[in-house]
Amino acid sequence: MEDVKKLGLTKSIGVSNFKKEHFDLILPYCTTQPAVNQIEVNPTFTNTELVQYCQNQGIIVMAYGPLGYTVPRPWARNNRPPPSLDDPVLVKIAKKYGVTTSQVALRYLMDRGTVPIPRSTNKNHIQLNIDLFNFSLTDEDVERISNFNINRPVYAAATPAVIAEDYKMRMLHGNQRNRKLYPL
Ligand SMILES: NC(=O)c1ccc[n+]([C@@H]2O[C@H](COP(=O)([O-])OP(=O)(O)OC[C@H]3O[C@@H](n4cnc5c(N)ncnc54)[C@H](OP(=O)(O)O)[C@@H]3O)[C@@H](O)[C@H]2O)c1
Repeated sequence: MEDVKKLGLTKSIGVSNFKKEHFDLILPYCTTQPAVNQIEVNPTFTNTELVQYCQNQGIIVMAYGPLGYTVPRPWARNNRPPPSLDDPVLVKIAKKYGVTTSQVALRYLMDRGTVPIPRSTNKNHIQLNIDLFNFSLTDEDVERISNFNINRPVYAAATPAVIAEDYKMRMLHGNQRNRKLYPL
């Protein structure tokens, strides 16, 4: 990847799902520090220590699964922890800023200095997920949302078979409209 950058074929290089121990292996030897680490971060998996570590190193945290369990996940149908998008804590914060609770969940990640990457095939959701720049949360709001943390990632529970099944169902229900897809 460093050679790809040296050849001018990419502006930046990054990593994904790196923990501190992975950085310990590469940072002493790399000639180009990764610009980004793409990891899961959301209200039930705040990933605080790793986010802090990356930020201290000057590595941008890209937050995948940003809506966490606020949205339904097929592999947690009967075991979905709060907050959902109608949770009173999120609703109260959303009302204060005149936004939706999904926007609060995404802005929460931005106000922690991370870059959320929501995924949606719904036009309204996509618009909402872009309109995040006209408000910001207070430290107290951020803390209230962080209090939902139970160190439970969304994707640890998602085996390839479950993800494949979810993908198949979404294809069958036609909300993917002939896109070439990464199955998440
Ligand atoms: N590096 C890795 O190991 C890794 C692992 C997992 C994921 N990822 C990446 O991270 C990206 C995002 O993760 P994710 O798919 O978990 O994203 P997410 O945005 O947290 O969750 C996607 C789900 O949320 C719904 N949604 C999105 N916006 C919404 C809104 N405004 N209101 C209500 N529901 C909303 C979507 O349904 P609708 O389509 O109906 O809106 C979809 O069911 C993926 O595309 C993937 O590329 C990377």
